Amino acid sequence: MKVTVSRKAHFNAAHRLYRKDWSMEKNDQVFGKCNNPNFHGHNYELIVSVTGQINPETGYLIDIKDLVDIIYEEVELKFDHKNLNLDVPEFQELNPTAENIVVVIWNKIRKKIPSEMDLEITLYETPRNFVTYKGE
Ligand code: NI
Repeated sequence: MKVTVSRKAHFNAAHRLYRKDWSMEKNDQVFGKCNNPNFHGHNYELIVSVTGQINPETGYLIDIKDLVDIIYEEVELKFDHKNLNLDVPEFQELNPTAENIVVVIWNKIRKKIPSEMDLEITLYETPRNFVTYKGE
């Protein structure tokens, strides 16, 4: 019996989308307003979903408290109220697009989830724009 347990979380962060090796014109062309040199913010929402077998002894797949703690340590503590470009080492050389952010978060959380369980993360950059990654 496979079930999926999900937890919602959120963080606020600023970012700028650009490439250092491109001219301002080319960055504007590709990234538009997201290339604002003074950065801009988003209220990011995420859904972390873990899939696997129910433990017959506890009736749990995963203790939701453990999932809450993992999200706090790996996402909220590291990303909330941060400037992703300046404060988060993973984005020193990597554009903090929703696509790249969800992969970075997935890699951090994956290390803390038992290997026999599957992990899927959906990151909302706006209520209408969201990206999903499941490690494939
Ligand atoms: Ni943005």
